[in-house]
Amino acid sequence: MQIQATHGRIEEAADSAIVVNLFQGVNAPGGATGAVDRALEGMIAELIQGGDLKGKFKEVVLFRTGGRIPAERVLVVGLGDQLEFGLDRIRETSARAATFLRESGVSSYTTIMHGTGIGGVDLREATEALVEGALLGSYRFNRYRTERDEDEVELTSMTVAVKDAENLETVQEAIQWARTVSEATNFVRDLVASPARDKTPRELARVAQEVAEGASIQCTVLDEKQAEELNMGGFLGVARGSSEPPRFIILEYHGGPKGESPIALVGKGITFDSGGLSLKPAKSMETMKEDMAGAAAVIGVLRAAAELKLPVNLVGIAPCTENLPGGRATKPGDVLTTHLGTTIEVLNTDAEGRLVLSDGLGYATTFNPQAIFDMATLTGACMVALGRMTTGMMGTSEELMDRLRRAGAKTGDYVWPLPLYEEYEEQIKSDIADVKNTGGKYAGAITAALLLKRFVKDVPWVHLDIAGTRKTTGEADSLQKEYLPKGPTGVGVRLLIQVLRDWNQAT
Ligand code: BES
Ligand code: MN
Ligand code: ZN
Repeated sequence: MQIQATHGRIEEAADSAIVVNLFQGVNAPGGATGAVDRALEGMIAELIQGGDLKGKFKEVVLFRTGGRIPAERVLVVGLGDQLEFGLDRIRETSARAATFLRESGVSSYTTIMHGTGIGGVDLREATEALVEGALLGSYRFNRYRTERDEDEVELTSMTVAVKDAENLETVQEAIQWARTVSEATNFVRDLVASPARDKTPRELARVAQEVAEGASIQCTVLDEKQAEELNMGGFLGVARGSSEPPRFIILEYHGGPKGESPIALVGKGITFDSGGLSLKPAKSMETMKEDMAGAAAVIGVLRAAAELKLPVNLVGIAPCTENLPGGRATKPGDVLTTHLGTTIEVLNTDAEGRLVLSDGLGYATTFNPQAIFDMATLTGACMVALGRMTTGMMGTSEELMDRLRRAGAKTGDYVWPLPLYEEYEEQIKSDIADVKNTGGKYAGAITAALLLKRFVKDVPWVHLDIAGTRKTTGEADSLQKEYLPKGPTGVGVRLLIQVLRDWNQAT
């Protein structure tokens, strides 16, 4: 979809549809909606008086203009209660408008900004939310469909009408920013939605190379042999069961001062998690192509950061492999030696995420990073604790976790902390090795994170368990947002870009 800003009055826009809005309880529309109403000789006011338009949140009323103004149709979207208004409502309203117009067969529209009038929202932030809503909300994964509805249309153009010329530049900048972040998010969604056979570790490495080539990113891919030379026993221990070779992806972006230590991002890249010899039941395996959502998010964040020219240095690390049973597979009881030398007793081969991350994190420390963030679909236990609505957050730095929580509140990519009290360490003590990879029935998200903590040395670190938030079901158990269509969410991209954007701000 093309997105552009033009200087002009919305009531003068010649497009298939124009979008205006209404807060709940407003009887005489003002601002841009009021101007359109006057041009339409009171058609909107009449809808309100007749009880056909109330301004309820996500309400949509579409009607034809009959030639009274250049636009063919007007869509009024409800903004809801003014007291409950905020950025997330702009995203949702914009997503609702986009999908509703598409369903109505309209592919091109011009919209006003929502919430910068009596809503009081900052222009740049409102524009970003508007664009995010439209691009994230209209996302569909159609790569594997051959049959389409005949009357189905694609959105081709959204124009933002800017009344005051002095605002045009800000709006244009905000459009570019939000487009970059949203497209990176949708790129991650595509990867997560793809079948495992079409996103093998080798294929993911190819995609990472491709992303790097189109940007100022350096990409290094380690194969099995190179990983062996680096003693990545955790990573290779998982890869052993599959005949599909693993790949350890490293992306580097230098946007900050030369010599400034990087921020490391590490993502779990299990392109299919069968559980290994500790095989999962069939039902639990159905969505395990999504077990690389962390790796995909890392690639997505690097892609967006480079495109936005964020003034930071980044290193993105994605250990990618399948977790399958096989004649050479790691067996329960085996002991693996990691890159940093720590030994792990594998009691359950289905607790493989922490094994690949032990080397992902350990290798990240060799870059001397100022901070490490990891993202991983790590535990079912985290979903039990926080559901599908909120990402579990554990780490060694209160300051970093604070930054994430604020970024989460702003972007809607919610995170919430779980404790890493050292007493839990008892649960992962091994009888024969330094640590074991299972911690028993309780506090599974925490004991998994405590294993990871052993591999970050003293680098300030935060782990994000995205098992629950990697996708929405479209049902009551996950976030019901107009900009989160059923399927992969692309969790982590908007969140981390927000953190990195604010990186040099005091906390
Ligand atoms: N990839 C799974 C975690 C997961 C479960 C993600 C459900 C998304 C949805 C992970 O590798 C796993 O299998 N974890 C086990 C750990 C256990 C064996 C200690 C789990 O959570 O059951
Ligand atoms: Mn597993
Ligand atoms: Zn897994």
